[in-house]
Amino acid sequence: MSLLPHFFASAVVIIGILPWAIETAQLRIYHGSLNNYTATELEEPLKLLPFINKSIKSMFYVFGFSETPESTDTTLILSAYLKKNYTNVLLVDWLKEASKEFVGEELSYAFKVVPLARYVGIQLGKALISLSENGLDPNMTHLVGHSLGAQVAGFAGETTREKNIWLPRITGLDPAGPLFQGVVNNNGLNPSRAKFVDVLHTDPRRYGVISSIGSVDFWANCNLEVQPGCTVDNSDSENSFCSHQRSCGYFSEAILNPQSFPAVQASNCSSWGQNTSNSAVITFLGDAVDISARGNFYFSTNSGSPYSKGRNGLVPNK
Ligand SMILES: *[C@@H]1O[C@H](CO)[C@@H](O)[C@H](O)[C@H]1NC(C)=O
Ligand SMILES: *[C@@H]1O[C@H](CO)[C@@H](O)[C@H](O)[C@H]1NC(C)=O
Ligand SMILES: *[C@@H]1O[C@H](CO)[C@@H](O)[C@H](O)[C@H]1NC(C)=O
Ligand SMILES: *[C@@H]1O[C@H](CO)[C@@H](O)[C@H](O)[C@H]1NC(C)=O
Ligand SMILES: *[C@@H]1O[C@H](CO)[C@@H](O)[C@H](O)[C@H]1NC(C)=O
Ligand SMILES: *[C@@H]1O[C@H](CO)[C@@H](O)[C@H](O)[C@H]1NC(C)=O
Repeated sequence: MSLLPHFFASAVVIIGILPWAIETAQLRIYHGSLNNYTATELEEPLKLLPFINKSIKSMFYVFGFSETPESTDTTLILSAYLKKNYTNVLLVDWLKEASKEFVGEELSYAFKVVPLARYVGIQLGKALISLSENGLDPNMTHLVGHSLGAQVAGFAGETTREKNIWLPRITGLDPAGPLFQGVVNNNGLNPSRAKFVDVLHTDPRRYGVISSIGSVDFWANCNLEVQPGCTVDNSDSENSFCSHQRSCGYFSEAILNPQSFPAVQASNCSSWGQNTSNSAVITFLGDAVDISARGNFYFSTNSGSPYSKGRNGLVPNK
């Protein structure tokens, strides 16, 4: 009872913060390394067009709640793509919108960051429309988002589809679960947001979505309460994000070594590992994924980097 006035007062404070955070999102393109980039307002994406090499794909990365361009998760993904050199590497920098405020994690998330995720997603969609009207082939784009960033990417795909532009691919790295499933579902990422949606689940019991929301859903170490090497932690401390963050660890490794995470199709966690027939359907996490594959795919990992177990990862850890 006594918490209720506090709750509403905080909500009012947050709503006061909204206008300040809005319209600050930036778009960056990196020139071969993390410390050399050009940035522009997300609303003025055409300024980056001269820096985009149109003969290769453009990967747009969106980080999650309370993350930044310098977060470990962010730099893991960006540096993997920069190292491979087969895509233009862009970043949606929504630092201010994504930040938590002094009123606390949960209130910031619910009243500020989730509404702004939708707003930034629509802005990103409009930026992609504008770029495509000015010479960037939308078929040469790929959106990758972690946590709430995956939901942002979903809203972007929804926005481009309103202009009949189907993005070829959106990758969700442990898409944020809270307020995106169950009773309060903000309808972010789902299979209709792009021609192909690949999703990696690493923390379905806590910060990630619990159900399949992609064309292909990868379930790492399914049935385990936390990822190998992480410990059960019900606080909201840094440590409690261990499994959620593993999605970036696994995916960046998959980008660097394209066939390092073969994954096998199964209908659910409990049937994974039961069917060892040679006809089992296998695809790969990362850019070697078969875009005609559909359904749930499973793999197990090591507890530390390198996480890949190669083909030994096709069965659950003992
Ligand atoms: C940064 O990238 C630009 C464009 O590729 C290049 O001209 C410039 O030399 C780079 N700067 C540094 C310090 O590497
Ligand atoms: C664009 O990418 C292609 C393929 O990697 C490369 O051959 C070409 O040199 C690049 N163009 C520029 C202007 O960097
Ligand atoms: C990577 O791209 C840069 C230009 O951005 C080019 O100078 C370099 O040769 C490329 N490296 C490889 C391995 O393709
Ligand atoms: C993109 O690919 C689709 C087929 O998947 C094709 O119909 C469309 O013309 C392509 N768009 C461009 C701009 O090349
Ligand atoms: C898991 O999949 C198997 C094989 O399709 C099925 O028989 C079983 O009922 C499923 N289990 C659950 C819990 O859904
Ligand atoms: C085993 O997997 C293959 C390929 O996915 C499938 O055709 C077959 O029906 C499965 N067998 C059982 C017993 O689930």
